[in-house]
Amino acid sequence: MRLLVTGGAGFIGSHLVDRLLALGHEVAVLDDLSSGHRENLPPGVRLHVASVAGPAIDEIVAAERPEAIFHLAAQVDAARSVREPLFDAEVNVLGTVRLLAAAAGAGVRRFVLASSAAVYGEPEALPVAESHPHRPLSPYGIAKSAAERYLECFARERGVAGVALRFANVYGPRQTAHGEAGVVAVFCRRLLAGEPITIHGDGRQTRDFVHVADVVAASLAALGAPPGAYNVATGLEFDIVAVAAELRRQLAPQARVVHAEARPGDPRRSALSPQLAARELGFRAAVPLAEGLARTASWFRSHPEGRER
Ligand SMILES: NC(=O)c1ccc[n+]([C@@H]2O[C@H](COP(=O)([O-])OP(=O)(O)OC[C@H]3O[C@@H](n4cnc5c(N)ncnc54)[C@H](O)[C@@H]3O)[C@@H](O)[C@H]2O)c1
Repeated sequence: MRLLVTGGAGFIGSHLVDRLLALGHEVAVLDDLSSGHRENLPPGVRLHVASVAGPAIDEIVAAERPEAIFHLAAQVDAARSVREPLFDAEVNVLGTVRLLAAAAGAGVRRFVLASSAAVYGEPEALPVAESHPHRPLSPYGIAKSAAERYLECFARERGVAGVALRFANVYGPRQTAHGEAGVVAVFCRRLLAGEPITIHGDGRQTRDFVHVADVVAASLAALGAPPGAYNVATGLEFDIVAVAAELRRQLAPQARVVHAEARPGDPRRSALSPQLAARELGFRAAVPLAEGLARTASWFRSHPEGRER
């Protein structure tokens, strides 16, 4: 297939690009390189350095005429979205609408949106199913929720089949230390630099950690899935203390752990139900956390720059 990946020079996007190329697809990337790196892309991939929120989008999408678009480009930092809600909305809401309009205009048949667990806000019960109401707490979550609604609208009105994937806490090689859920990357970098790691609060807060290889598998499955919104998660909860202990064991057993104030707005527990994705996408997360952390730690050890090539 001819495919366009926005945000393809970033953490998740670059793993998706690698896999799509390995499967023989023709892949183009659109990325403004604001948090992604050219080095994450294999040589020879067509890279359009442009913003999804800019006027060049129509021309690029019309020239590429992809059969499907994976839209991962985003302002990914929830804390920044609180500080700069206008900028967040420009990229994550208007950028998505601009891309959807360009896609509809160019006859793109399928649009896969990288959404987030942030659309749910504080969960009523765990694990959170897709039918849970949207009660996003940050402008980032509000923008992802709005982007999903636009996706539904474009599916209805313009015939672009839309799939929204609500990622849980993604981790793996090439993750940068900023962004939504970089705790694994942050710990790896600090441990390798011989610095103490900081745990906010008591560290017993839980997250649903999903390895980037599993996120790629779910994204591929989305190419053939019924339109709709799906969690991409393990359904399992692990706490930050456990993650810190495992990474310390792997990288620097003597490293100090420092406790700091809990961060306001940090949910106490988080896990997303993987059942709908299992049924409709045939997707089940396959990388156990211990193995995923070991793979990630070993990558950070051999890539001190945090970039691939
Ligand atoms: N990492 C996670 O745990 C997680 C969880 C939920 C959702 N997501 C979503 O997954 C997607 C990918 O996130 P990631 O973790 O790989 O982050 P990332 O920062 O590594 O990737 C985002 C990419 O988008 C590019 N970008 C940013 N603004 C752009 C713009 N205006 N125009 C074009 N390109 C732009 C960046 O340069 C970067 O390459 C995002 O949509 C994010 O919201 C990530």
